[in-house]
Amino acid sequence: MEKTFAIIKPDAVKAKNAGKIIDRIEKEGFSILGMKKIQLTQNQAEAFYAVHKERSFFPELVKFMISGPVIVMALQKENAIKAWRDLMGDTDPAKASENSIRNLYGTNKGENATHGSDAPETAQVEIKFFFPELA
Ligand code: RTP
Ligand code: MG
Repeated sequence: MEKTFAIIKPDAVKAKNAGKIIDRIEKEGFSILGMKKIQLTQNQAEAFYAVHKERSFFPELVKFMISGPVIVMALQKENAIKAWRDLMGDTDPAKASENSIRNLYGTNKGENATHGSDAPETAQVEIKFFFPELA
């Protein structure tokens, strides 16, 4: 069993799509080990996305991530990291496969409904960031 970390981003929370996304997560067989609705601070958002700090979209990304509450989750399933990224679809909702979460609920490459860890090391760091008791 593998763990991954997910965020339902401010756009999807604001649009009241969180319930549908959580339903999809459960239907796909993930166990939700931890879940909470929080408002990220500027410092938290900058630290969380620190790997992107040199990218041109970084200020926009941080501003978006603090624009409203998010729902953070620690998920578990076999091959959870890939399974969750497959379920989310491509970063760009326009390129995300039909019926994927970003295709259904994302708006554009920045406002794309969800986040998912991209590797075991990042999953561990990200879970620890929000759920120290689960890491
Ligand atoms: P995430 O980390 O949120 O799960 O998304 P990802 O791996 O699919 O994409 P990544 O390259 O890690 O980018 C992180 C987030 O930054 C925003 N972004 N905006 N405007 C742009 O060109 C652009 N590129 C990336 C997105 O919110 C993306 O999810
Ligand atoms: Mg990423």
